[in-house]
Amino acid sequence: MDALTAQTDALETPATGADDIATTTALATDIVLTGDRPTGPLHLGHYVGSLASRLATQEVVKRQYVLIADMQALTDHAGQGAAVADNVLKVALDYLAVGLDPAKTTFVLQSGVPELAELTTLYLNLVTVARLERNPTIKAEIEMRGFQRDLPAGFLCYPAAQAADITGFDATLVPVGEDQLPMIELSNEVVAKINRLAGTDVLTPARALLSSTPRLPGVDGRKASKSLGNAIPLSARPAEITEKVRAMFTDPDHLRVADPGKVVGNVVFAYLDAFDPDAAGLDELKARYRRGGLGDVAVKRRLEGILQAFVDPICQRRAVYGRDPAEVMRIVAAGTREAREVAAQTLRRVRGVFGLA
Ligand code: TRP
Repeated sequence: MDALTAQTDALETPATGADDIATTTALATDIVLTGDRPTGPLHLGHYVGSLASRLATQEVVKRQYVLIADMQALTDHAGQGAAVADNVLKVALDYLAVGLDPAKTTFVLQSGVPELAELTTLYLNLVTVARLERNPTIKAEIEMRGFQRDLPAGFLCYPAAQAADITGFDATLVPVGEDQLPMIELSNEVVAKINRLAGTDVLTPARALLSSTPRLPGVDGRKASKSLGNAIPLSARPAEITEKVRAMFTDPDHLRVADPGKVVGNVVFAYLDAFDPDAAGLDELKARYRRGGLGDVAVKRRLEGILQAFVDPICQRRAVYGRDPAEVMRIVAAGTREAREVAAQTLRRVRGVFGLA
């Protein structure tokens, strides 16, 4: 991908569909927070959807936190604690491999900041069960996971915990996909309630920075997901990239090379849109594909070359850090310590609002 273009594009994302949440660009005064659940290694979709934008914002803003949200991961992976713990290192390695710089971006392990759990407990007193049940993202996730009476209370309440994440570090800007907008909305409601209770501004509301890039599909055309194994991890070996690109869903009606083909809904072109640095060349390729006379094999070969070249430097940086996992965990521990001091100050203020010493 033309990474630089993607990054600046991400910074200039216009507001869309954000309802009552102000969306905006990153400023030098901003404190930025984003997070990932460590439920598996990060993939190309994470790069397009958020890592590229984090690389850009770390150069611009006052401070950027990336949260490895292991506590949130446990809200629906309580029985897989060992795997979650394992993935913490993998996600941290992915951050370093793509070029997040610990000098500019603070890596935070959520479970290492118990102040966030205490903030969550206090915030839960201001959030109704009805409000949590109305959250469209939570509703969709409950449905997807098939939760019924077995719905973990922690899962229903994780948006309150996310409000603790956002406010705990005084974040002013939260770059997210559309599905996370309800979380920011809830967080800002908590901020308003706390400030009203306090009669003064104890917490700062956050703005959403909505990603403009369309979500990258899985290789089979379905939503990319760890459990389906249809995503291409950032840590993919060359052979895995080859195999996954060859298996990509194209246009099922494009049977012969001479047939006209569809570009929309064609996974190969979705990936080319995201990663091909030659926009004019890509337009021409699409025109030829639509017209007929261009085979899937040729298009896939082009994509494969582009993805191999994209992943190669990431792979090399990953290998360097991968040789010293203890150093990676020291980076995470140092960031977590720093973040904890900030969260402790927020907690002190919020405890005060509730009359706690
Ligand atoms: N819920 C987010 C996700 O699934 C992860 C996350 C946790 C997060 N805490 C956050 C994102 C705080 C932004 C801000 O992707």
